[in-house]
Amino acid sequence: MGKTIIISNRLPVQLQISNGKINAVPSVGGLATGMKSVHSGGESLWIGWSGLTDEETPHELDQNIDDALKEHGCAKVSLNAQEVEGFYFGFSNRTIWPLFHYFMEYSEFELDFWNTYKAVNQKFADAIIEKSNDDDTIWVHDYQLMLVPQMVREKRPKTSIGFFLHIPFPSYEIFRTLPWRREVLEGLLGSDLIGFHTYDYERHFLSSVRRILGLEVSFNDIFMDNRVIKVDSFPMGIDYRKFKNAALDHDKNQKSDLQERLDSHKASAPDTKLILSIDRLDYSKGIAKRINAFEYFLNKYPEYKEKVRLIILAVPSRSNVPQYQLLKREVDELVGRINGEISTVNWTPIWYFYRSLGFESLIDLYTTSDIAWLTPLRDGMNLVAKEYIATRTDKTGVLILSEMAGSAYEMNEALLINPNNFEQQADTLKRAINMPEEEQMARNTFLQNRLERYNVEVWANEFMKALKQKSSVVRNTFVAKKVSDGVLQKMNKKYNQAKKRLLFLDYDGTLAGFHKDPQKASPDDELYVLLDKINNQENTTLFLISGRDKQTFGRWFLHKRYNMIVEHGVWISKNGQDFKMLEKVKGEWMEKIRPVLESFVDRTPGSFVEEKNYSLAWHYRNTDPDFGEKRASELGTVLRSLIGNDDISVLNGNKVMEVKSSNVNKGRAAVRILGEEDYDFVFAIGDDWTDEYMFQELPDTSITVKVGFQKTQAKYYVENTKRVRELLKQFAQA
Ligand code: ADP
Ligand code: G6P
Repeated sequence: MGKTIIISNRLPVQLQISNGKINAVPSVGGLATGMKSVHSGGESLWIGWSGLTDEETPHELDQNIDDALKEHGCAKVSLNAQEVEGFYFGFSNRTIWPLFHYFMEYSEFELDFWNTYKAVNQKFADAIIEKSNDDDTIWVHDYQLMLVPQMVREKRPKTSIGFFLHIPFPSYEIFRTLPWRREVLEGLLGSDLIGFHTYDYERHFLSSVRRILGLEVSFNDIFMDNRVIKVDSFPMGIDYRKFKNAALDHDKNQKSDLQERLDSHKASAPDTKLILSIDRLDYSKGIAKRINAFEYFLNKYPEYKEKVRLIILAVPSRSNVPQYQLLKREVDELVGRINGEISTVNWTPIWYFYRSLGFESLIDLYTTSDIAWLTPLRDGMNLVAKEYIATRTDKTGVLILSEMAGSAYEMNEALLINPNNFEQQADTLKRAINMPEEEQMARNTFLQNRLERYNVEVWANEFMKALKQKSSVVRNTFVAKKVSDGVLQKMNKKYNQAKKRLLFLDYDGTLAGFHKDPQKASPDDELYVLLDKINNQENTTLFLISGRDKQTFGRWFLHKRYNMIVEHGVWISKNGQDFKMLEKVKGEWMEKIRPVLESFVDRTPGSFVEEKNYSLAWHYRNTDPDFGEKRASELGTVLRSLIGNDDISVLNGNKVMEVKSSNVNKGRAAVRILGEEDYDFVFAIGDDWTDEYMFQELPDTSITVKVGFQKTQAKYYVENTKRVRELLKQFAQA
């Protein structure tokens, strides 16, 4: 069995060099703290950046660095200062971070950042490829490495690759402003499984995939070439036992300086409440707003002056990024002003720490504070909220949490607030201060039970389980066999040996790709050459078989003398002759249906009606995908109620609904042709629902091929139109 390789920019430890010695200090941030517990329990290798640039690392220490990381089960990707600047401070934290947290005005779209991001992602991918085997499972983490899955996939097509995004995925309206939105999505889609903290982030991602890449999405499966990519939400948990046990041991251990100070504060003012806030100093955390809201609270309820104290622990973060420097200044000034204005001889309203504290100090703060007040404006998850609850071993304590944090979805028993609503926050603080202990305990019992059950280990196992199941789903769902090089060779052999061949080739989505305007999807020179070659072969009958109208196909192909069946089987033309009717059909119904379709065009921007001789098609490829599907299902209902028992039916094609006579379909037409001669090689290829009639009705000995990776009655499938051409090129060489 292969190993698991975890890959993220931040490793669980950061290396520092002082006086020629290497120190490993624990990393701050949800990803590193959460995954650390998963990593320490298993046989995984964790690849990431050590936190030191090449320039900061003397050569003679290279080996020592590798050894220090190895002790923690880690291996490094080396980055020089320029790479850290463009990739980490640049694209990751000046472009993606603000954009994904809805701070559009902070997002910088710099080509240099993007180029460095690509190059560094390639470095990470190369490190994985070097250190892994085909049977390993690769788990890529977070927004710094969104191109890695595709880069690894190219070299290791069979490896299981999972990706987890630890920050929000923004709505399509925000995401689409990114100049490199396609590349980012394609990078992520190299994965087999993509995980998010919440369903909302998942939903936003799927919407972008549909709208930007135009891929088919069914529930949470994305269909891309020959792969199905699964998307799901897995809310990350914490190492519950670790926090609970630390809190239990806390009382037994010798007191830290911080704890002494906290205790003396409590002793001197036993009826004051301590309100705690802990975050990295990041604008997404809403620290400045929280301080303003605190001032608002003290103004609204002055009776709480000298009765509450706000402890702010802000951990230094990304301090090379200008927005973080500005925020630092803003928070310093705010704290200074408020403390200056309202402190009394006995009371400082805000205690402000700007530093990273050790784990024990964190526990001191969690266990001593009566209230945790966390007000991110946007936060992928927010583990601090969960950690606070886990340390409340006597079940007291009140959590006030922003609705904008991913964790709010699972922590309904907390007091949820909108960080922009000062009025509500002031009232909630008052409520928290006065909340009876029984109520605190009842709320925390629910919260603790859930956190204990769905801890970080369960979270990681669920993700891994889904990743493993995912690979088997791909194998079972599709009975059609891929046209691999081996299969192609066999088909080709049969083709060469055949005495009489018959080929049915669908056009749109098979011989040619889709175009916004169907009239523009005309054949290219390469296609003509290819079809000419096949059509001129001895004992070979080629039919183009399409839902298109006879005028268009006449213009494109009549001079080439290809045989054609159009409008799904209404018309036939052989060897350059004029189109004749293949089926007797009526068209009177069209007068009745046309206005209905037109009313749908009026109400669905981007859609249009194509009028053929004996059918009407409503195309909705260019509409908003969700809206288009909704309208299509509405139209289906309207049409079915209108046509009743008439001889007409509605066909659901690829982004098109076609109303036509019931006795016409490609299967029926193909079978009629088949009866005309004695063929020993019958081949049909198509991408659409309408082609399924051929696949169903042609005899079992036929070779039927679906284009695309969807459920089909065909025996084989190919990934895309490019592969169709490769296949036909083989036939053309016979
Ligand atoms: P983010 O990942 O955005 O920083 P989270 O709240 O999800 O936010 O995660 C923060 C993590 O960092 C928590 O696991 C917390 O314990 C840890 N942490 C926060 N502050 C400190 C600190 N001062 N010292 C050590 N660890 C900290
Ligand atoms: C968030 C991100 C992580 C990141 C952490 C700390 O939790 O999701 O990927 O590691 O913040 O930020 P830093 O920039 O110090 O790695």
